Amino acid sequence: MNLFAPSMLSIDFGNVEKGIKTCVKAGADYIHVDVMDGNFVPNISFGPPVIKAVKKAAGNVPLDVHVMMLEPIRFIEPLKKAGADMITVHYESASDINATLDAIKNAGLKVGVAIKPKTPLDAILDLLDKVDMVLIMAVEPGFGGQVFIEDSYDKIRNLRNIINERKLDIDIEVDGGIREDNLQKVLDAGANVIVAGSAVFIGDIEENIKKFLSVMR
Ligand code: DX5
Ligand code: ZN
Repeated sequence: MNLFAPSMLSIDFGNVEKGIKTCVKAGADYIHVDVMDGNFVPNISFGPPVIKAVKKAAGNVPLDVHVMMLEPIRFIEPLKKAGADMITVHYESASDINATLDAIKNAGLKVGVAIKPKTPLDAILDLLDKVDMVLIMAVEPGFGGQVFIEDSYDKIRNLRNIINERKLDIDIEVDGGIREDNLQKVLDAGANVIVAGSAVFIGDIEENIKKFLSVMR
């Protein structure tokens, strides 16, 4: 099933509640929440107290928390308490990725693993049995509004083939640089969870989401 996850990194932070509620009303399947620590990525976003407020505004729509921080295992419990429903951690960020993924699962949350554009798919193939979702970054993580890296299509296609061959039930999420003009190509490559930040929050949020959903549904 195709799922749409607006990324609130590009939201108007003066109107978070209104922005999230508009996403919910327009039919978003998840709210994608980017946590950045200024170390793993060259940017800082927000943490548990803000996520708690987002959770309240999102109601029944689950929070898809994309954690871009070093040793994310330290923050699984606080993120869960704040309202995370799914936690995705970067393969590159954890000294013990297996323990980190196990900790997410043991917390009762859905488990995701993410890779940066330069990390080969091979790095995570041993982890597929442990995850509900793989997040393929189509830009270098850290900022919204960047251009989609074309090599990502092959990565998505190869991963979808491997998942099919192994008969696994794993979502492929793609994050970074997705807009109306490349959405169909990303879906055709085999992604089924689509993240978009600037393409949603710049302009009319409801209209923007409707355009995405008309292609995805
Ligand atoms: C970037 C974040 C993304 C970001 C995407 O590191 O992980 O979720 O918000 O923004 P756009 O869709 O504008 O590329
Ligand atoms: Zn993200």
